Amino acid sequence: RAGLKYFGAATDSPGQRERAPYPESYAQYDEIMWSGEFGQTTPTNGQKWLFTEPKQGQFNFTEGNIVTSLARENGMYLRCHALVWHNQLAPWVESTQWTPEQLRKVIVDHITNVAGQYKGQCYAWDVLNEALNEDGTYRESLFYKVLGEEYITLAYETAAKADPTAKLYYNDYNLESPSAKTEGAQRIVKLVRDAGLRIDGVGLQAHLVAESHPTLDEHIAAIKGFTKLGVEVALTELDIRLQTPATAENLELQKQAYKNVVGACVQVCGCIGVTIWDFYDPFSWVPAVFPGEGAAALWFEDFSKHPAYDGIVEALTNK
Ligand code: G3I
Repeated sequence: RAGLKYFGAATDSPGQRERAPYPESYAQYDEIMWSGEFGQTTPTNGQKWLFTEPKQGQFNFTEGNIVTSLARENGMYLRCHALVWHNQLAPWVESTQWTPEQLRKVIVDHITNVAGQYKGQCYAWDVLNEALNEDGTYRESLFYKVLGEEYITLAYETAAKADPTAKLYYNDYNLESPSAKTEGAQRIVKLVRDAGLRIDGVGLQAHLVAESHPTLDEHIAAIKGFTKLGVEVALTELDIRLQTPATAENLELQKQAYKNVVGACVQVCGCIGVTIWDFYDPFSWVPAVFPGEGAAALWFEDFSKHPAYDGIVEALTNK
């Protein structure tokens, strides 16, 4: 049956957030984040390698525990993010020339400890994040350079042992309409399955652009390309940036874009949840990475809502 298990918002540990323009915004922010508006959350940073294993074999869950504890206290679904990613790696991983044998052990130790720490708490883990180039070939990450495809199956094998109840996801961006990259992600699902291992879902990050967004039908086709393989799909990091300053016109395009992508998920059986990648514009990663773009979330700096909020409500209620 089509329908969502959750609609959520990712959030960062307070000390890691980009500084908001005025201090009382933290209280207003927390009120929205934890007051029942959202049924799910994901820590945007705290469970990444940089924070969880800053030195080899020295595990630190201080940052990761902040958001995961709040999720538990507030009875929210928790998505856990991310075990193996080429970005926000600890410097010691990047600065060493690993032999295949050494790197296998590094991966196994990391996943065993981090997924083990949160065993039973995560609805899903992003086991592997952003392993593909835009043309569907594998990204030449240090993991791929040393181990080839084997690092992928090793990651899923280890995660399944460390947390048998978490759904194991592959997570990437630009998977929201059919392309060579969506075919690459389908190959990853088959690779893991063919090795006799478990992979349960594909996360469509959905970092979209208001002025050039896919159609509803394109989103539906992309999602079905995964669900027909028997894995579930979630929109895991949804935000839709626009050229700033925002105008009535591009906010309307943004509303339509949010409505399309959430509506596609609602309509396809097997698309089980939506996570927006923070809800508050000042805490969004977008302006730092795409100068001149922003206003990608659903709440403006003054805590008024974007028109896109209503677009999402319409999508969720099939209007
Ligand atoms: O750790 C420092 C902290 O000490 C300091 O106080 C703070 C001041 O701004 O900066 C902190 O580092 C920042 C870190 O986030 C933690 O907040 C980095 O500068 C910043 O570059 C980093 O950005 C994160 C980005 O991943 C890194 O690539 C974003 O917050 C996070 O939203 C973003 O999320 C990724 C997903 O994990 C994967 N998909 C793409 C998505 C967007 O890039």
